[in-house]
Amino acid sequence: MTTAQPELYRGLMGVHIDTSSISSIKGDQGELVYRGYDINELANKATFEEVAYLLWNDDLPTQAQLDAFKAKLAPLFEIPAPVIEMLKSLPHDIHPMHALRTAVSMLGALDPKAEDVSIEGIQEDAYSMLAKFPTIVAAFSRIRQGLEPVAPDSSLSIAANFLYMRTGEKPTEAATNVMDVALVLHAEHGCNASTFTARSAASSLTDSYGAITAAVASLKGPLHGGANTAVMQALEGIGSVEAVEQYVLDTLGQKGGRVMGFGHRVYTVLDPRAVILRKVSKALSEESGEGKWFEMSLEMERVMDIEMEKKGRAVKPNVDFFSASVYRMLGFPADTYTPIFAVARISGWMAHLLEQYADNRIMRPRLVYEGEFGKTFTPIEERA
Ligand SMILES: CC(C)(COP(=O)(O)OP(=O)(O)OC[C@H]1O[C@@H](n2cnc3c(N)ncnc32)[C@H](O)[C@@H]1OP(=O)(O)O)[C@@H](O)C(=O)NCCC(=O)NCCS
Repeated sequence: MTTAQPELYRGLMGVHIDTSSISSIKGDQGELVYRGYDINELANKATFEEVAYLLWNDDLPTQAQLDAFKAKLAPLFEIPAPVIEMLKSLPHDIHPMHALRTAVSMLGALDPKAEDVSIEGIQEDAYSMLAKFPTIVAAFSRIRQGLEPVAPDSSLSIAANFLYMRTGEKPTEAATNVMDVALVLHAEHGCNASTFTARSAASSLTDSYGAITAAVASLKGPLHGGANTAVMQALEGIGSVEAVEQYVLDTLGQKGGRVMGFGHRVYTVLDPRAVILRKVSKALSEESGEGKWFEMSLEMERVMDIEMEKKGRAVKPNVDFFSASVYRMLGFPADTYTPIFAVARISGWMAHLLEQYADNRIMRPRLVYEGEFGKTFTPIEERA
C-alpha cells in the first residue's frame, strides 16, 4: 500500500497561517491597506507615529491619543549605557544589521520584565523598541565613523530625531517629511519573511526581544530587506545610465540571476509603495541635482519591463527599488538602508506580536522526509 505524498508548499507559497486585522495586500490590484486605510491615504498625510498607533490599535489616534502616545515614547528613546558600550566594542566594518540584532538581544537581557508576555508586557516592549531602534541605528552609524553618539532629542518626531542623531544637526522639514513617508511605507506588510519569523518565534511564548532579534536577522537577507542595499550597490557598480541595459542583460543571462529590487511573492502588478517612492525619488533628484540614481533606476525599470515581457513574466519594482535612490539622496550610505527599514518595520512586527501573543498556537509545520530507513548501528571502530 502506498501512502499519498503530502502536498508541498515550498517557500510557504499560498499558505495562510492565521487570520489578522493589521494589513491587507491585494497583489493583483497593487493595493496595500493598513487597518482599513489605503497606503495612498496614509503616505504624506499621516506621520509615522500616527501609523504606529494605528497598527497597534483599531484606528488612527485623536490628537489627545497621539499626544499621550508621544509622551509615552519620549523617555524611551535613550538606550542603556551597556548597549552603547557594546556597540563601541564591535568591529567598525561589520554590517550594521549585526549591530542592531545584537543590541536588540541585549535590550532583552537588560529588561527585568522581558519574560512578561502578557499583552500589557508586550505593549511595554513595543513602545520601548519603537523608540530605541532609531537611537541604536544612529548610534552605531556614528560609532563606526569614530564619532560619539548624539543623545536623542525627545521633542522631535521619530523621523526628525533619527536624522538628527545621525549628524547632530537638526534636519530640514523637507528631509524630515521624506523620512516620514519612507517610514510609513515600510511600517507593515503582512506575513513577509521577517514578520513570519517574529510570529513563529513568539509562538513558542519566548520573549518579544528574542522574536524581534530573529526578525532583524531575517530582514537582513538580500531577498528581503537587504535588497535596498543590494540595489544601491548594483547602481554604484553600474555607474551610468548607458551601462544599465548591459548589466540587466548580464544578470538575467546568469542561471537564477535576480535583478535586486524587482519581483515580489505577492504583487503581480506594481507595488503601490514603489509608485509613491518613485515620485519621491523624482522630486528629490530634481531638488538635489543628484539625478543620476533616479535616471539609472528608471532605465533599469524600462529594460526589466522589456526583458520580463519577453519571458511572459510580470516582475516589477518593489519597495526596495526606489527607496535605494531616496536614501542615497538623503545622504545615507548603502549598508544603512536595511537598518532604516528595521526602524520602520519594528512598528509592524510589534503589531503582529500583539496579535500572536493574544491568541497563540505554536507553529509547527512538517517536512517530507526523503532520507533512508532501516539502517543498523555499527560501532565506531568498525565503520569504514
Ligand atoms: C522577492 C523574491 C524573493 C520573490 O521570490 P519568489 O516569489 O520565490 O519568486 P521567484 O524568485 O521564484 O521568481 C519567479 C520568477 O520570476 C522571475 N523573477 C522574480 N524576481 C526576479 C528578479 N528580481 N530578477 C529577475 N527575475 C526575477 C524569475 O523569472 C523567476 O522565474 P525562474 O526562477 O523560472 O527564473 C524575488 O522576486 C527576488 O529574489 N527579488 C529580488 C530581491 C528583492 O528585491 N527582494 C525584495 C522583496 S520586497
